[in-house]
Amino acid sequence: SRTVTRTADGKVTVGGVAVTRLAEEFGTPAYFLDEQDFRARCQAWRDAFGPDADVFYAGKAFLSRAVVRWLHEEGLNLDVCSGGELTTALDAGMPAERIAFHGNNKNAEEIERAVAAGVGRVVLDSFQEIVRVAHIADRLGKRQRVQIRVTVGVEAHTHEFIATAHEDQKFGLALAGGQAAEAVRRALKLDGLELIGIHSHIGSQIFDTAGFEVAARRVVSLLAEIRDEHGVELPEIDLGGGLGIAYTSDDDPREPHEIATALRAIVTRECAAANLRTPRISVEPGRAIVGPTAFTLYEVGTIKPLDGLRTYVSVDGGMSDNIRTALYDAEYSVALVSRSSDAEPMLVRVVGKHCESGDIVVRDAFLPADLAPGDLIAVPATGAYCRSMASNYNHALRPPVVAVNEGAGRVIVRRETEEDLLRLDVG
Ligand code: LLP
Repeated sequence: SRTVTRTADGKVTVGGVAVTRLAEEFGTPAYFLDEQDFRARCQAWRDAFGPDADVFYAGKAFLSRAVVRWLHEEGLNLDVCSGGELTTALDAGMPAERIAFHGNNKNAEEIERAVAAGVGRVVLDSFQEIVRVAHIADRLGKRQRVQIRVTVGVEAHTHEFIATAHEDQKFGLALAGGQAAEAVRRALKLDGLELIGIHSHIGSQIFDTAGFEVAARRVVSLLAEIRDEHGVELPEIDLGGGLGIAYTSDDDPREPHEIATALRAIVTRECAAANLRTPRISVEPGRAIVGPTAFTLYEVGTIKPLDGLRTYVSVDGGMSDNIRTALYDAEYSVALVSRSSDAEPMLVRVVGKHCESGDIVVRDAFLPADLAPGDLIAVPATGAYCRSMASNYNHALRPPVVAVNEGAGRVIVRRETEEDLLRLDVG
């Protein structure tokens, strides 16, 4: 995050506040999010894409009412993928027309709420959903703006579980074999739907613009086919999210302006070649906006050196606040942030307090050999898909999210309590 600095005595500060003070005030484990950094990243995406394009923040990465308000203030739109995210968005005042509703199996109640609220677009993901959304819109006397999500057949170079444009997976309708074209045919026939565009999301944590460019090219060729068959030029295309961030110093992510320039160039060129009007482009970054803005602060509890192997450092959280290492073999870095140390580096594995050996936060890292219980360590770049995927495994209490800004921290999602857990038990 951009406002993190280390003072001469080795203490790390964020947004002008020392992490030791944050730990005293808010406890550990906790996520600390740099609000200025979040807003700056929103602006960078807005500026990169300009007034002829729309940026939808992907709420699945991390969503709370405060985040919705920041997005609104910074001029971003919002992609939601469940009734719960929709409720948070509307409750915090995001105008419905700036919301896109996603999901491969939205239920009737969710669809009805979204259509009744007047969301700007519903992204259709199956033949069944085309009919469902049309019926619900008819019943409500509305015409719902929709996009059709297609799979373009790109193998994104990322973890299998987060790659989404190859054909053998649950999302979207395949361009190959004509499913996508058939979906367009059906959607265009239904009065309850206004088909405004085609959507593609190729995956997540991607560093190379090539996959996005192939996707853009294939989506534009579908637009040309639609024009040839139906005589309509769809006005919008959405190229999804997926831009990768740096988790460790080995990662070399692209900046928003690089992806914007690449996409604009390819869409303009392909449309000119097909004699199509250039559609309005939208994108849906989640991780690239919120990921780098937050870190998780943990307190070291136990230290277990295994001779000739490595030292296990147990912290007061774990897979319940960051499942990404266990689930995707994700790589993180870690730093001692409560003091300086001149001690030799030792090879560590940072682990949590959960009842399984896969409960790893940072698989391989170095920390000073004089590390001691009570030291504070920070894992950077945990703003995306950590709090949003947090669980209560072992009845862990999900940590708070604290926004740090102008020398003060403010809780935007409070720490869970044991009463919160007990409240769900019946009997
Ligand atoms: N749009 C759609 C339709 C998506 O499915 C996603 C992410 C995004 C946008 C945002 O992608 P981003 O810019 O954040 O990469 N839990 C996984 C990531 C799952 C992403 C799911 N879809 C992880 O922790 O890496």
